Amino acid sequence: MSWRVENRRLAVIDERAEPYLTEELKRTLRETYFPRYPTKRAVLLPALHLVQHEYGWIPQRAIAEVAEFLEMAPAETATFYEEYWLKPKGKYLLQVCRSLSCELCGSKPITDHIRKKLAIEVGETTSDGKFTLVELECLGACGNAPVALINDVMHEDLTSETLDRVLDGLPEDPHHFRDPVVTWEK
Ligand code: FES
Repeated sequence: MSWRVENRRLAVIDERAEPYLTEELKRTLRETYFPRYPTKRAVLLPALHLVQHEYGWIPQRAIAEVAEFLEMAPAETATFYEEYWLKPKGKYLLQVCRSLSCELCGSKPITDHIRKKLAIEVGETTSDGKFTLVELECLGACGNAPVALINDVMHEDLTSETLDRVLDGLPEDPHHFRDPVVTWEK
């Protein structure tokens, strides 16, 4: 069994008691983000990214909390951007490029492999909430097609075997999943 996330723009009412914009997130915005932008309003999009990175999606209440913190009217902004998820999705978002170069180099078999392996269709999330599968357009890495994004990490020259290795090695906590080719130093 799986749940569909096709229409990511539909709001989900969330009953969480504590605020999404925690004191720690506020501190990060205040100390790290505010100095980089000319006004508080200008921090809106990065702030929404921060919330999405923390929770995997952006609940309506979180949008209101961010707007209040930035001294703005509650924002509709998130609905205009495809990369913001306004409904829950899997811990790991598998985004397979379906544009021409990737299609010619085998993106369809990659998508089919994921569909069979995880028993979900494109636009669905596994019943354990671990994976959501979507297709998207060119990621700008056509020379290394076929490619897919797994959360924020690009994987190139994919085969079913290399994909299996990546999926099977994913950490339980997606916050620990980092691009192995990047040097993660402060
Ligand atoms: S067509 Fe897939 S990265 Fe360009």
